[in-house]
Amino acid sequence: MRSTTDLIEKIQKIKMEKRAIILAHNYQRPEIQDIADFVGDSLELSLCAAQTDAEIIVFCGVKFMAETAAILNPDKRVLIPDRNALCPMAAMLPAELVKFYREKHPEAKIVLYINSLAEAKAYCDAVCTSANSVEIINRMDSEIVLFGPDSNLAGYTENSTDKRIIPIPPFGFCPVHILFNREEMLRLKEAYPDAEVMAHPECTSEVCRAADFVGSTSKMYKESLRSDAKRFIVATETGLLHRMRKARRDAVFIPAYDEAVCVNMKLHTLEKLYLSLVHERYPVVLPSWVMKKAREAVEFMLETRETPLTKTH
Ligand code: 13P
Ligand code: SF4
Repeated sequence: MRSTTDLIEKIQKIKMEKRAIILAHNYQRPEIQDIADFVGDSLELSLCAAQTDAEIIVFCGVKFMAETAAILNPDKRVLIPDRNALCPMAAMLPAELVKFYREKHPEAKIVLYINSLAEAKAYCDAVCTSANSVEIINRMDSEIVLFGPDSNLAGYTENSTDKRIIPIPPFGFCPVHILFNREEMLRLKEAYPDAEVMAHPECTSEVCRAADFVGSTSKMYKESLRSDAKRFIVATETGLLHRMRKARRDAVFIPAYDEAVCVNMKLHTLEKLYLSLVHERYPVVLPSWVMKKAREAVEFMLETRETPLTKTH
C-alpha cells in the first residue's frame, strides 16, 4: 500500500509522461476531485472530452460518462479506473426497449438522458443532460418526445416546455435521488429558515418543489458561488458538497440526506487511478456501429451552445 502523498506524486508524473488528462465527476471522492484536471457535471465533462488534445483520457465517473468520452474520441484511449462503476438507472432502458417504443410511437422523437447505455443512445435522436434537457427537447421537430430513462427528469422538463413528454420506461429512476423526501426537506427548511435549498432534477417532483433552486450538479455549484446565502441544504449525491465547501469556506452546506451516496461513483480510488495510468486499464471499447450512431446523437447535443468549462484549481 502506497502513502497518499506518494501516490499523488506518482499519478502526476505518469500523467505528464503519457500526456493523459484526468476528468472527474462532481460526485467523485474528494481526493479524486482534488487531483483531477477537470471536475464537472455530465455536460461539462462531455465538452471537455470533445475538446481535449490529451492522448489518454482517464475518466473518473460512471461508465456511461466514459463511454460518451470514447464516442467523442474514437482515436483516443479512454480509460475507466474501475470497470464496475455502472449507473443502475442507465440499465433501466436497454436498447431493445428503445426500439420497442420507437415502433409504438413512430410520430415521436426520442431524446435520451446521457445517463443511458451507449447502445441505447445509438437508437435515439438526441442526447441531453440535466443541464440542457429543456433546450434539447425544444429543438425536436415533433409534438411528442419520448424521454428516458429518468421519469423524474422527464416530468421536470415537461413543466418547462410545450411538448408532450412520454417517459420511457414509465418509472425509470435514480436509486440515490429517490432517497430524498419532501417531509425531511420541510423539516430541514424549518430548522434552518435562512438556508437556500437546492435539488437535482433526478429528485421527485415533490422534492424539487420544496427547493429554491433546481439544476444539474454544476448548476448547483455555480448557484452556491453566486448566492449570498451562508447556509445551503443540498439534495443530491453528497460528493458535490466537497467542491462547494472548498469554494465557499464562509458557508455551511447541509446534505438533505447524508446517506445519499452513489456507491458506483465512489469505486474509483487514488490507487486504482494510478494503476489505470500505469497499465492503461480499463479501456472503454464499443462496437463501431454504436460509436457512429451514438456520436450523431451526442454531437447534436454539443452543437447546442458553448458551455464554459470550470477548471478545478
Ligand atoms: P449531472 O449531469 O448533473 O452531473 O448529473 C449526473 C448524475 O449522474 C446525477 O445523478
Ligand atoms: Fe446513476 Fe444515480 Fe449514480 Fe447518478 S447518482 S450515476 S443517476 S445511480
